[in-house]
Amino acid sequence: MCGIFGCVLREGKAAPLLHEALKRLEYRGYDSVGEATVYNNKIYVKKDAGKIEEVHAIENLDDLPGSVGIGHTRWATHGGPSKVNAHPHLDCTGKIAIVHNGIIENFMELKDELIDEGHVFVSKTDSEVIAHLIEKEVKSGLPFVEAVRNALKRLEGSYAIAVLYAEQPDMIICARKESPLVLGIKEDACFCASDIPAFLHLTRKSVVLENGEIAILRSDGYELRRISDGAEVHREPEWIDWTPEMAEKQGYPHYMLKEIHEQPQAMRNAVRLQEQYLDLMATFLDRAQEVFLVAAGTSYHACLAASYMFSKLAMRTVHPVIASEFIEEYGKALNIDTTILFVSQSGETADTLEALEYARNRASTLLGLTNVIGSTLTRVARAYICQQSGPEIGVAATKTFTSQLLVLAQLALRLAKKRGKVSQSEIDYLEEEIRKMPSYAEEVIARVEDKVRELAQKYYKKNLFLFLGRGISSATALEGRLKLMEISYKPSLAFPAGESKHGPISVVEEGVPVIFICPRDETRKEIKGNIMEMKARGATIILIIEEGDEELKSLADDYIEVVKGVPEILSPAIYVIPLQLFAYYVAVLNGLDPDKPRNLAKSVTVK
Ligand code: AGP
Repeated sequence: MCGIFGCVLREGKAAPLLHEALKRLEYRGYDSVGEATVYNNKIYVKKDAGKIEEVHAIENLDDLPGSVGIGHTRWATHGGPSKVNAHPHLDCTGKIAIVHNGIIENFMELKDELIDEGHVFVSKTDSEVIAHLIEKEVKSGLPFVEAVRNALKRLEGSYAIAVLYAEQPDMIICARKESPLVLGIKEDACFCASDIPAFLHLTRKSVVLENGEIAILRSDGYELRRISDGAEVHREPEWIDWTPEMAEKQGYPHYMLKEIHEQPQAMRNAVRLQEQYLDLMATFLDRAQEVFLVAAGTSYHACLAASYMFSKLAMRTVHPVIASEFIEEYGKALNIDTTILFVSQSGETADTLEALEYARNRASTLLGLTNVIGSTLTRVARAYICQQSGPEIGVAATKTFTSQLLVLAQLALRLAKKRGKVSQSEIDYLEEEIRKMPSYAEEVIARVEDKVRELAQKYYKKNLFLFLGRGISSATALEGRLKLMEISYKPSLAFPAGESKHGPISVVEEGVPVIFICPRDETRKEIKGNIMEMKARGATIILIIEEGDEELKSLADDYIEVVKGVPEILSPAIYVIPLQLFAYYVAVLNGLDPDKPRNLAKSVTVK
């Protein structure tokens, strides 16, 4: 997730507005920043790696001429934070500048095609291909707007872009597919931005660009067209009455709720991984004599779920281990034949990095899965995958967890293919189901949120909760427990349901809410028994079940139905969503701030 901004002013300097707007978009990404303006048919660019004010102190971002410009604040997904990888990106002539938020899935083949035609690339980003594609279309003789439209039709993936052209210095072209883009309208200026906060201090008149639309912005107005056929689109501006703080959360009261709702888009990004990265990681995992998955907190729960995926799909045993215990438990056993996948959304968790450093000194193969390119984990790992979730502001991990699960599922499936452990039909089925996960998540969020809010209203005063699951759902139970505990401070227990009779069931008495995660999978018969044993002790039974599961509904005091047909190995990424929402609403009903829970930090960089 990055932040883009563009402005066309009738008069005055664009650069200071660009700078201010990018500061208001900084929560969308902050590893690099850049601006470009057009003046006297020439494009001027300033950009570098670093936070906005760091780069401004060196480059003076306000010192760019002209009333028309574009800007970008970056969250790296392809190519680490650096000056050449920072946006804006230029074409070969230097007359076209673009900024981009999103992921171009087919950028490698487009880049090869363009290089064969003589284009020279300077960055490692996917975004740079857009500038050269537009250049190619302009050179074919098309008018600028048509050249941009044709170029966009070649792109697969997601984009929100803004484009400057030195030969048409009075306009900006912007367009979107999936990534957000809104226009701000004034009588003597037009703006485009990834998010409303960028221009809310300048105007409250806003037009949302819909998927597949392109806009031409001039200082006296805007035109909308369809990318597909160029047909004109008419849409009047709306009045935005949000406060600036609400705007930064896109109208949500907290970042955590915004990020829960962002999960479908984050999942779309997580299923847009470059093939070669998945293949490389699968090769390392296949060759290893022993594989560990090492992480902390929520990331550890993703590893626990992944251990079921790897064993069920690839018949590969992997050991999920809590980072702070890894050295003590396995340190002396590590050797050159050990491969360890470290999972950390921040890439900076001290416990995880300590384990990483220890394993490095034992000559083990170090792999990484993270959300932050340029983090320590990406610099030390021999190979890594970026999950491409965009910044997660809420301390409680939500979208980064479900994205980690999707990446790990793709890795397990890729390893299964490599080892010949699954049939082609099963591969095709699971690949299709992975692609459906964003829509599954969208459907669940839309259908369960009100019911979950009612449940929170009913139970938010309770002072003990149990979360139980079997099989891969035991990982979901642990994650649901952590979410509730860390933001509502409610004492909660979570363990594999089969463990109940080995001790924990003694805490259950009349009215204690016990939440079971029960997808329709192989553990069904046993989980029914576990539900009955809790009912017998007076527990209040809350079930997270598949839609239409009448048999389990009859055992529940309350239940939440999630979408039918989610494969067992993918179920945690969907069944966790009601638990995330439950934790959020219980915290809010208890008058707490879910974004800033006491005693916790977003990234635990101390041991
Ligand atoms: C989860 O909601 C917490 N924020 C915490 O457990 C977190 O998952 C843990 O600190 C690991 O963080 P990482 O993924 O950045 O390494």
